[in-house]
Amino acid sequence: MRTQVGIVGAGPAGLMLGQLLHLRGIDSVIVEKRGRDYVIDRVRAGVLEPGTVDLLTASGVGDRLAVEGLRRGGVHFNFAGARHRIDLVALAGSPITIYGQNEVLKDLIDARIATDRPLVFEAEEVRIEDLESSTPKLRFQAQAGEPREIVCDFIAGCDGFHGVCRATIPPGAVTTHERVYPFSWLGILAEATPASEELIYAYHERGFALHNQRSPTLIRAHVQCPPDDDLSAWPDERVWSELRTRTATASGWRPNEGPILKKSLAAMRGFVTEPMRYRRLFLAGDSAHIFPPSGAKGLNMAIADAQVLADAIAEHYASASDGALDLYSDTCLRRVWNVQQFACWMTQMLHRFDPNDEFEHRTRLSELEHLMTCREASTSFARRYLGLSPISHDE
Ligand code: APR
Ligand code: PHB
Repeated sequence: MRTQVGIVGAGPAGLMLGQLLHLRGIDSVIVEKRGRDYVIDRVRAGVLEPGTVDLLTASGVGDRLAVEGLRRGGVHFNFAGARHRIDLVALAGSPITIYGQNEVLKDLIDARIATDRPLVFEAEEVRIEDLESSTPKLRFQAQAGEPREIVCDFIAGCDGFHGVCRATIPPGAVTTHERVYPFSWLGILAEATPASEELIYAYHERGFALHNQRSPTLIRAHVQCPPDDDLSAWPDERVWSELRTRTATASGWRPNEGPILKKSLAAMRGFVTEPMRYRRLFLAGDSAHIFPPSGAKGLNMAIADAQVLADAIAEHYASASDGALDLYSDTCLRRVWNVQQFACWMTQMLHRFDPNDEFEHRTRLSELEHLMTCREASTSFARRYLGLSPISHDE
């Protein structure tokens, strides 16, 4: 079988790329190692920047998002017993949209199926071959065990952090940069009415906490915990107790509680691959970079890469020019490092690194106060949180 673009991985990056290529009349085959239900049921991110919403909408996958996405005009920072609000709309002109990554995936999978273009779930032993040639190949075993070979013009490595694509690149051809934080996040999904409609980031002497909603009846929350913790150390009552303590305000705000449906642990790291390309293999999304989740950027960046790559591939077919493909990695990495810095800054400002370091704690509280009281600082945060480009000095 032959295709123009072989896409490895049916996460946000792979499915979005498939949809954008389809809209430009470009053929692709998407090969995913997991089953459809597994892909959709994974609880992941849920904050969409306006640019992500616009792209999904312009790509014909925004109908349900327009109805069910929760537009929120501000975010809160709870610290030192008080709740502070940053007004995203007033400061930067746009709300964020709360819509789970699994909902985005449902919409993208439905759109893909409607195109009749191939989307293979439960592919086993996915391998890339002949990367040195002008016709790289995707090989895998389909569900019934039949071996398949797909000859491609290009391969898009959209297979996440643990995927096979980045690992296929010969040693030395790319460089990776990594920062691993000395803490993890314990995350829950719980059935309860959210006590706040807007997202709350909390900093407390016991560490970071986050309270978000996923729907009018579902809460998503995270608390900072030691990196080597086990889920068994986190019975439900301990989760609620930490969440209550860390988000508490003197005016009595507290989260509503209910049955915990899912509980997970996630390491905190930043990671960047440079360049995001090897010959005809292009990395997009988590296969190329991981952002510490404090900035809520991973999903938005996966979608942003897909857009840059789709445009570059379209230019290749339309004008036989590889200019944009040659710039793909530099174009993406400029944004990646900017966002990496933002996500690392959020992480640094909102987590307790050393419980015995009172100096660090006090300067962090002071930084948060500055963020809330200095209009320039709040505006800069709002623009970066929304993924808007910086205001240049000439404006
Ligand atoms: N062959 C085929 N598919 C694979 C392989 C493989 N060898 N390895 C992994 N995959 C699949 C995974 O099962 C997953 O469905 O690739 C997909 C990658 O999806 P994501 O991990 O969601 O990555 P991406 O599309 O880049 O989206 C990034 O996901 O992890 C979150 O916070 C992150 O929101 C961000 C987003
Ligand atoms: C989430 O809803 O899971 C979430 C929200 C904001 C973040 C990270 C995660 O920064």
